[in-house]
Amino acid sequence: MKQKIALVTGANRGIGLEISRQLGQLGITVIMTARNNEKGKAAVEHLKQEGLDVHFHSLDVTNETSIHQLAVDIKEQFGSLDILINNAGIYIDGNNNILDIEIDIVRKTMETNVYGPLRLSQSLASLLQESGDARIVNVSSGMGAIKDLGGSYPSYSLSKAALNVVTIQLADQLNGKGILVNSMCPGWVRTDMGGKSAPRSVVEGADTAVWLATGDVERTGRFFRDRQEIEW
Ligand SMILES: NC(=O)c1ccc[n+]([C@@H]2O[C@H](COP(=O)([O-])OP(=O)(O)OC[C@H]3O[C@@H](n4cnc5c(N)ncnc54)[C@H](OP(=O)(O)O)[C@@H]3O)[C@@H](O)[C@H]2O)c1
Repeated sequence: MKQKIALVTGANRGIGLEISRQLGQLGITVIMTARNNEKGKAAVEHLKQEGLDVHFHSLDVTNETSIHQLAVDIKEQFGSLDILINNAGIYIDGNNNILDIEIDIVRKTMETNVYGPLRLSQSLASLLQESGDARIVNVSSGMGAIKDLGGSYPSYSLSKAALNVVTIQLADQLNGKGILVNSMCPGWVRTDMGGKSAPRSVVEGADTAVWLATGDVERTGRFFRDRQEIEW
């Protein structure tokens, strides 16, 4: 069987690092990307020492040149791609609500959390299509679930709701082309973003993303938590 290749964004820490580890433990070759070369390479060395087949590539998801270079290099160095995990994300709302949030914060959040995954999916779609059984997993959040929305976390919620729309639209356009596209919520996880009081470990937070990327999944254009479909 052909060796599967996965790409993870924001792989240097938190949930992205753990998704990379779990994919590697399944025997998948993982291209771990990070915007900071030093931190990214350190994370890769760490997982290499655990015996995993992991590789570093620099990627800032807000930088179009960086995305273009990545797509060119993957084709040249690896020749194929089976899994794209859009994990990189920021939460910079602080305590602001929808009435006082600065538009610059909204713009910055959208660049990373929405336009990044969108651009990357656009750049890698043709390579993923060659796989025949490819997956795109967008790491979203329950804070972007329309059914639960309030007035807090304004730009973060907006970005994750928009990311879910990206999931639905990509899934529709790629339907029948061998690429399943789904969103998932990791739950509230102990990372730099989630903080120390979060109830979930990164192992738990990464699980559904890895399952959507590698498991016996047939659904596309859906939203999941704990391997169960949830409402938008
Ligand atoms: N933790 C939670 O409770 C929770 C809950 C729901 C959803 N999520 C989602 O899960 C994902 C991972 O979150 P986390 O908790 O692991 O957060 P984290 O510990 O703050 O890690 C975020 C990662 O994203 C990277 N990143 C940020 N901007 C980037 C950019 N422009 N280009 C490339 N990488 C970039 C960061 O890189 P640097 O190290 O360079 O900053 C870091 O690797 C996010 O999408 C988040 O919204 C988290």
